[in-house]
Amino acid sequence: MAQGLLGIEALSREEIQAILDRAKYFQPREGQSFRKYDLLRDRMVVNLFFETSTRTRTSFEIAAKRLGADSVSITASASSVSKGESLVDTLNTLAAMRPNAIIMRHAASGAPHFLQRYLEIPIINAGDGTHEHPTQALLDARTILDRGAKLEGLRVAIIGDIAHSRVARSNVYLLSKFGANIVLCGPASLLPEALKNIASGVTLTTNMDEAIRDADVIMMLRVQLERQHEPGFSASEYFQFYGLQLEHLKLARPDAIVMHPGPINRGREISSEAADSQRSVILNQVENGISVRMAVLERVMSGKKTDGATAY
Ligand code: NCD
Repeated sequence: MAQGLLGIEALSREEIQAILDRAKYFQPREGQSFRKYDLLRDRMVVNLFFETSTRTRTSFEIAAKRLGADSVSITASASSVSKGESLVDTLNTLAAMRPNAIIMRHAASGAPHFLQRYLEIPIINAGDGTHEHPTQALLDARTILDRGAKLEGLRVAIIGDIAHSRVARSNVYLLSKFGANIVLCGPASLLPEALKNIASGVTLTTNMDEAIRDADVIMMLRVQLERQHEPGFSASEYFQFYGLQLEHLKLARPDAIVMHPGPINRGREISSEAADSQRSVILNQVENGISVRMAVLERVMSGKKTDGATAY
């Protein structure tokens, strides 16, 4: 089967580490932009997004271009999917144009895994339903490591709509492989009990103060209204119990960082003061999205395993 990137669950710690190390290599020097390489010259990548995206799609596109690859982006509403073409037919059509990889986001959990069975071209999962968002977890790990922290033994509170979050799931898989302690927190209706069994080192709580106490990392999540029939609470009710405010930070470790995959909803899951505080690394996450996706694209499309220490 083609070697794409479908999820974190199937990756070994060594493979993850190699991507993170290589991403470090691609980070821009102080005050500069991302360097342009020709490591993927002659390669072509297609971005196929069936769900909205700002950060993920743009950074995949920039990452491909910085590596010298050609990149084409397609949004589902502008494609023949809206004319009734099946997913398999759309993918086969794109595959016939001979790209070297297809980056895909889809609302159905497992869609890229299913398609990879039919396709020789590697697929990179840019988010499948409520299942996985592997490059988000990789860029989150890169951002945590950039603060000088080790993942092992770290206390990470992931707070919000856990039930519908592919970001939470991929982060749990990654962080648990490195021995972090993960606290999942949210309203009971968005915090399925079964989640504590998905990996080692995971605990659940509906109490936000308890989740944040002594946390090294506070990762806030958006309420995924598009995946819920009945949210069951208003924005202000949600904010009262699960919105991150500056006072919460006093409970965390003094050097704790605040993360959010974006898009943020100020006044729903996070206050402006917390989102814009000194502790917030939300824009560092966005920046790392490019270097991590460069490392992933190189790994998938260059045909050779990357080793962070290798000088190209
Ligand atoms: C996330 C996603 O799409 O899963 N966004 C992102 O990729 N940065 C989270 C979200 O939409 O809330």
